[in-house]
Amino acid sequence: MKICRSIEDMGSACRDARRAGKRLGFVPTMGALHEGHLSLIRAARAACEVIAASIFINPTQFGPTEDLAKYPRTFDRDRGLLEKEGVEFLFAPSVEEMFPAGGVTWVEVEGMSNKLDGRSRPGHFRGVTTVVSKLFHVVEPDVAFFGQKDAAQVAIIRRMVRDLNFPVKIVACPIVREADGLAMSSRNLYLDRQQRNQALALHRSLVRVKKLWEGGERSAEKLVVAGGEEIAKEKLVRLDYFEIVDPDSLDPVQTVSSGAMAVVAAFVGTTRIIDNLLL
Ligand code: PAJ
Repeated sequence: MKICRSIEDMGSACRDARRAGKRLGFVPTMGALHEGHLSLIRAARAACEVIAASIFINPTQFGPTEDLAKYPRTFDRDRGLLEKEGVEFLFAPSVEEMFPAGGVTWVEVEGMSNKLDGRSRPGHFRGVTTVVSKLFHVVEPDVAFFGQKDAAQVAIIRRMVRDLNFPVKIVACPIVREADGLAMSSRNLYLDRQQRNQALALHRSLVRVKKLWEGGERSAEKLVVAGGEEIAKEKLVRLDYFEIVDPDSLDPVQTVSSGAMAVVAAFVGTTRIIDNLLL
């Protein structure tokens, strides 16, 4: 696996692969890799001939009071995992390389970037779309792989790719969960035993809503109340949002038809976690 620290190096390695006629798949990450990330690498492996991955903890997507400083940094372990998966190129730039002083240009998907997580995390999606744009310019992948776990991120990136004519196909991969249902996340590392246990309320709330929906309930209002009740049972869990939305526009629906998405975010202690389920 070739590790590139500079934009120039990564750009030329990826360009060479594409010029050789190879289909290039790209998996952007912030590291602290788990099976969720590795599932994206495996999806890329199945669909592409060469795989590029990135590890970059993007400061521009963290709010001033968020966990940028303590976000887990496990580069040596991550590198080993990617190597084992057969990743060809790993891009791991410094903050100065990606965001040299003086940058004033941003990519923002207006009207979507302030919904769901964007509402609770102002500026978050602007940071995501800006860094993903920059990464797409460096790697110029044929296909890029994202996790459905971050459902709003997927919808916003799809919209950005469409609006700005990025010549890349976006593939969304299913949520990888722990055996008990907890969606895998690098932030789960912050949870102690009791918090880890109460965090299961998120998945439980989604499963409850899905069951009610399968039983014929179509009122989003009633389903949202039922989801919220499940979260309220756990004292260490504070609901941020529970909504039922259109997965493309992220707008709330009133009558829940097939294909709508139940989405939940909550704080467990100070750790914010998210989950979702398609109905
Ligand atoms: P990060 O949180 O490291 O996630 C990288 C990718 O892994 C994202 O596409 C995310 O949705 C996916 N992922 C995380 N947990 C998953 C799970 N349990 N199942 C399936 N996929 C999962 O998302 C980011 O980084 C950043 O915002 C990034 C896109 C890299 C831009 O900085």
